[in-house]
Amino acid sequence: MDFVVETHDLRKYFGSIHAVDGVDLSVGRGEIYGLIGPNGSGKTTLIRLLIGLLRPTSGSIRLLGEDMPNKAILAQTGYMTQASALYEELTVRENVAFFADMCGKYDPTWRDEVIELVNLQDRSRSLIRTLSGGLRQRTSLACALAHKPRLLLLDEPTVGVDPQLRATFWSYFRSLADTGITLIISSHVMDEAERCDRLGFLRQGKLLAEGTPAVLRNQKGTTTLEEAFLQFAVEATEGGE
Ligand SMILES: Nc1ncnc2c1ncn2[C@@H]1O[C@H](COP(=O)(O)OP(=O)(O)OP(=O)(O)O)[C@@H](O)[C@H]1O
Ligand SMILES: [Mg+2]
Repeated sequence: MDFVVETHDLRKYFGSIHAVDGVDLSVGRGEIYGLIGPNGSGKTTLIRLLIGLLRPTSGSIRLLGEDMPNKAILAQTGYMTQASALYEELTVRENVAFFADMCGKYDPTWRDEVIELVNLQDRSRSLIRTLSGGLRQRTSLACALAHKPRLLLLDEPTVGVDPQLRATFWSYFRSLADTGITLIISSHVMDEAERCDRLGFLRQGKLLAEGTPAVLRNQKGTTTLEEAFLQFAVEATEGGE
């Protein structure tokens, strides 16, 4: 299988904090991979390592078949941060255009398409500072897509988004995956985890378990992923970690 994301024994230590602690990840083309874990489990750090914003303490990363860091590959990767990275004094469409332009891929038709995809066509000329949290979140997603990436890294993309739009986001994620785009999405919302093709349960920087939602539930004989996660966590604690 062609892996779009591969990490080997990836680690990031901040002093005594082992934020990412030996992660082996393999994510295939067109997969939606959910990074699931509680606050502080290392989700953002892992995503920031993948996109090259942090340098690993040790271990290796390959994206789209190339060893990282590699600028050409980064230009094919979209990243939606947990905190807004938008320019407050620019409009929605200017922000989308700016992000595309930075990668040398500005295309006004596509700009308008991604703005429509997140249903912001009526607000495309509004300044970011005049938008609500959910509207900003939609703009951030449009910006992450602005340069037609092959890999999308989305850090808690649906926080602050209303339930209806959340469902729309997820159907959109699925249609992106169907076109061969790979998505890594962090979340601690378990109903979102159910929508992923495969999950990695993260705790204290380590992958506790990996598999499809059904496999993870079956492994622990639970009806919910939340219960399965808790059981994996208890097992890891009893195992002396
Ligand atoms: N720049 C940094 N300097 C020191 N410690 C950091 C830094 N960035 C993250 N950490 C620590 O690394 C650990 C993992 O943080 P991270 O932000 O990756 O967690 P997370 O799973 O994304 O949490 P959340 O769900 O709250 O977003 C935490 O203990 C955090 O305090
Ligand atoms: Mg985070």
